[in-house]
Amino acid sequence: MRCSHFLLAHLKETPSDAELISHQLMLRAGLVRKLASGLYTWLPLGLRVLRNVEACVREEMNRIGAQEILMPTVQPAELWKESGRWDKFGPELLRFQDRNKHEFCLGPTHEEVITDLARRELRSHKQLPIILYQIQTKFRDEIRPRFGVMRAREFLMKDAYSFHLTKECLSNTYQAMRGAYQTIFTRLGLQFRMVKADSGTMGGNLSHEFHVLANSGEDTLIYSTESDFASNINCPEVRHLKEGERSPDGEGILSIAKGIEVGHIFQLGTKYSESLKATVLNEKGEAPVLTMGCYGIGISRIVAAAVEQNHDPAGIIWGDALAPFQVIIVPIGFHRSREVQGISEKLYADLIQSGWTVALDDRAESPGVLLATSDLIGIPHRLVVSEKTLAQNSVEYRHRKTKQPQLILLSDLHRFLQAQLATS
Ligand SMILES: Nc1ncnc2c1ncn2[C@@H]1O[C@H](COP(=O)(O)OP(=O)(O)OP(=O)(O)O)[C@@H](O)[C@H]1O
Ligand SMILES: [Mg+2]
Repeated sequence: MRCSHFLLAHLKETPSDAELISHQLMLRAGLVRKLASGLYTWLPLGLRVLRNVEACVREEMNRIGAQEILMPTVQPAELWKESGRWDKFGPELLRFQDRNKHEFCLGPTHEEVITDLARRELRSHKQLPIILYQIQTKFRDEIRPRFGVMRAREFLMKDAYSFHLTKECLSNTYQAMRGAYQTIFTRLGLQFRMVKADSGTMGGNLSHEFHVLANSGEDTLIYSTESDFASNINCPEVRHLKEGERSPDGEGILSIAKGIEVGHIFQLGTKYSESLKATVLNEKGEAPVLTMGCYGIGISRIVAAAVEQNHDPAGIIWGDALAPFQVIIVPIGFHRSREVQGISEKLYADLIQSGWTVALDDRAESPGVLLATSDLIGIPHRLVVSEKTLAQNSVEYRHRKTKQPQLILLSDLHRFLQAQLATS
C-alpha cells in the first residue's frame, strides 16, 4: 500500500465525543467513522484489522470441523413467535413490516433461524454432531450504544451452533469450542480470562464468557489468584463473594478485575429445539429433539478491545496477528533524494514479494508527520530509510512496542525481519 493513494483518514484532534481511549484512537487513526448512533463505517485501515480477526476465527472454527454458512440478517417474525422470544426480547429487537404487512426483525442472534434450518435439513443421528457457523452482521437496538464499535447497534459477530443427540456429545463439542476460543484469543495476542457466566435470556444451563482484561471493561470479574476459578460477578452463585476472601475452591484469594466480553459460549440444551420441534431419528427409529450449543465471538468488538489493551500516548500498538500492515517503510526525503526513493521502492517491492504486508509512506510530508502517523496507526515493524542510514548501507528498524531503533544492514534485512516476526 502506498500511503499517498490510501485513505489514511487520521485526525489531529481527539474527537470530543469519544470517552474511551480505543474509541478515540480508532477515530484518530482512521479505522472507523460514525454514520449515526451505533452505526460505523469501516475504513480501509480498520477493515484490514477486522479481516485479520475474521481470518483467525475462521481458521480455528474450521480446524475443529465447524462448517461455514451465511444466514440472512432479516428474519421473519413467525420464527420468533414460535420460540416465544418475539414478546420476550423487548425493544432491542428492531421490528418492521414489508410491503405485504408481514412482520420481520433484524437479527440480533440466530438461534431461531439455525434451528429452523436444522429441523428441515437434519434427518438422522448419523449426521451428528454438527457445528455450523457464520461471520455476519447483527443488529441490536442497544439502549446505550457507546464507546464506538465496542457497543454498537450494528456489529460483526461470529456465531456458531452445534447439534447433538446427547448431553455428553454436546459437552465434548463445548470442550472443543472452549479450546478453539482459547487458541483464538491467544493467537490474537490478547490478555484474556475465561469466566463462568449467567446464561441470561439465552436460556440453557452451562455458559462461559471470554473477557479481555481492561480497566474500562463494563463487566466485573471475580477470580482466584491461584486457580482456574473465575466468574462474572453477575452470576447468581458468586454474588455473595468478596474480594480478599478465600476462593470457594480453596485455592488462592479472590481478586476483582474489569473485563470486556469478547466471546460467550452456551450449552443451550433443548430450549430452541423443543419450541421449534427440531428432531432427528435415532438408532431405534425414535425422533428425540436435538440438543444444542451456541457460541459467539464479537469480531468487531475485538478490534476495539485490542486497542484498549495495546496503546501508548503516541497511538495504537498492533501485534503481528492484527496489524493492518506488518511493516511500514518511512523514507525521509523520498521526493528529494533519488537514492532514498530508489532503495525504498526496491525494499517495498522485495518485501511484498516475500509475502509481507507492507505500507510505503511516500507522502510529501515532513519526517515528523510521517513518523507520527506510523506511531498513531500502530504498524509493528518500522523501517526508516534516509541518506544517513544509506551512507551505512542500512535502514533504521524500530519495533512499535520496544521503541529501540537499530541500524540493520540492507543485506541482513530479510533475515532480520523474519526473526522479528517469529519472536514478536
Ligand atoms: N452491541 C454490541 N456491539 C459489539 N459487539 C457486541 C455487542 N453485543 C454483543 N457483542 C459481542 O457479541 C458476542 C456474543 O453476543 P452475546 O449475545 O453473548 O452478547 P451480550 O452478552 O449481550 O453482550 P453484552 O453483555 O456486552 O451486551 C459478545 O460476547 C460480544 O463480544
Ligand atoms: Mg454474552
